[in-house]
Amino acid sequence: MNILTQTADGSNTLFNETIGEHYHSAHGALQESKHVFLEAGLKYAISQKEEQEISVLEVGFGTGLNFILSFAHSEEHNIQLNYTGIEAFPLSKEVIEKTGYDQYVTPAIWQKFISNYEGILTQKQVLSSHCELEIAHTTLSDFKAPQQFDVLYYDAFSVQHQPEMWTNEMIAHACSFLKVGGIFVSYAITGNLKRAVKSCGFSIEKLPGAPGKREMLRATKL
Ligand SMILES: C[S@@+](CC[C@H](N)C(=O)[O-])C[C@H]1O[C@@H](n2cnc3c(N)ncnc32)[C@H](O)[C@@H]1O
Repeated sequence: MNILTQTADGSNTLFNETIGEHYHSAHGALQESKHVFLEAGLKYAISQKEEQEISVLEVGFGTGLNFILSFAHSEEHNIQLNYTGIEAFPLSKEVIEKTGYDQYVTPAIWQKFISNYEGILTQKQVLSSHCELEIAHTTLSDFKAPQQFDVLYYDAFSVQHQPEMWTNEMIAHACSFLKVGGIFVSYAITGNLKRAVKSCGFSIEKLPGAPGKREMLRATKL
């Protein structure tokens, strides 16, 4: 059961009663999504590339907040965005509609996402001339992909609440989907996570965290 709650920046999140954790930082869902995934992840990865095309893999698609902000950025800057979200427990369209996240993007972006959401759960959809979205309805451990990605948003529930998402094996499996030069970002930055990512052949950077959190992790595949 998920309960809609407000975070400190006024944006909403869901509290998952089974896991015992929020989908986003209680300090601010919107702030965290913008800081960790949009700014440190997508925008940084685009700045490292010559082509105006980027592929994103997200672990834990959830409400789609990271996706809609990425979609809005790609539309605004004419960047082709190929986005795959892995989600073991997809939310219903009704729950996503109640998040209030429509106010953070244009009505056109929101409509393209929400009106296609149920179709996206079964197959890849072209949302615009700049954006394709696929939600893989599977666990990360069962996920397979024929291609590799430029950016990995690692947005699983925390190690305290879902330790199986943060084992060395799970991190190595997720990192195998990144291209050389690809960027891993996560709001989390434990010693174990840094060691796991480093041992997969990444250089790591500690960046200032989203408001309310000291640090976050960004890593580049060497
Ligand atoms: C912290 S929330 C992600 C929030 C999401 N990025 C958003 O913006 O709403 C973690 C997500 O991981 C999903 N999840 C849990 N176990 C998973 C697994 N084994 N594989 C893939 N996704 C999983 C949950 O259902 C939840 O949607």
